[in-house]
Amino acid sequence: MKTEILTRTDRDIARAAAFLAAGALVAFGTETVYGVGADARNAEAVAKIFAAKGRPHFNPLICHYASADEAFAHVHANPAAERLADYFWPGPLTMVLPRRADCPVALLAGAGLESLAVRVPAHPVAAKLLAAVGGAIAAPSANRSGGVSPTSIVHVLAGLEGRIAAVIDSGMCRVGLESTVIDLTGPEPCLLRPGGVNLEALEAAIGSVRHPIGHERATANRTLRSPGLLVSHYAPNLPVRLNAIDVAPNEALLAFGRELPGAGLGFQLSASENLNEAAARLFEGLHWLDDHARGLLRIAVMPVPGYGLGLAINDRLARAAAPRGVSDQSETP
Ligand code: TXA
Ligand code: MG
Repeated sequence: MKTEILTRTDRDIARAAAFLAAGALVAFGTETVYGVGADARNAEAVAKIFAAKGRPHFNPLICHYASADEAFAHVHANPAAERLADYFWPGPLTMVLPRRADCPVALLAGAGLESLAVRVPAHPVAAKLLAAVGGAIAAPSANRSGGVSPTSIVHVLAGLEGRIAAVIDSGMCRVGLESTVIDLTGPEPCLLRPGGVNLEALEAAIGSVRHPIGHERATANRTLRSPGLLVSHYAPNLPVRLNAIDVAPNEALLAFGRELPGAGLGFQLSASENLNEAAARLFEGLHWLDDHARGLLRIAVMPVPGYGLGLAINDRLARAAAPRGVSDQSETP
């Protein structure tokens, strides 16, 4: 794929919006770092983000919006969230809030969680693009997995050229460091990632914010820094059996490719063994089997190859199958 370099003219922004509407990936500048974005409602487009970044697991992504009203149409705000939005949006602050029941964002974008990270960026290119798209853009930082977050178009191209449809030349990123992530789903606001808005400013707006310090930070980092990988990650209620080469009538089958006969219930990830499609349907499938498998004992999962997005799919499935309480301890780099 040839990566187009777009400018910030209205014409090019419209072209970028058209790429996104067609399910392609576009990198764009925000005031923090460049993000690589997809239409948040389109699970297959979101799956392409993980493939382009070479991510070995499905982290929950931040959804970007043109305004606080649009963001709060997808999540339940509370008084602290509204106050933070007044103070810091548009800007380098991301809030984690409960998803609304009718939230149209693909489950894969939120890694199957019941919460969603939302942000209204301040950069004029991001703002223009979001306005043109008229919806949410799911976007992690525009670097290959494990790489440094990009603050210029040169960084973006070094990592993702040939892997995304386009990048909008947005100049340098003013903040140059990712957004602050604050979790507002619990009784007490909790800082998940320090970033562009500092703790003192947050506390001046909403009072005390829980944040890990000293020794506590060492352990808390494991559970909090990438919470999507760990404790709060969606785990099905039913036990999970991996690499099933047969299936019993009292089992629900998560199928990949030619469906094994005899299951009590089935959900097909991808009949054509397309890993992108399977990634896009993974969380949906786990939820669906859980909701419909009344009386069944467990979920049997057919083998999924370990290359490309299969790596992330297998990582997620291994977590779903791990004895409960054990997966919560496992750190992923
Ligand atoms: O500045 C930024 O935040 C950039 C620009 C592009 O917006 N984005 C960015 O995204 O840094 P990413 O994917 O590299 O980091 C997202 C962070 C991760 O630490 C992730 O675990 C956390 O947000 N996160 C996302 N959804 C979450 C959720 N539902 N609950 C808890 N943490 C979440
Ligand atoms: Mg990142």
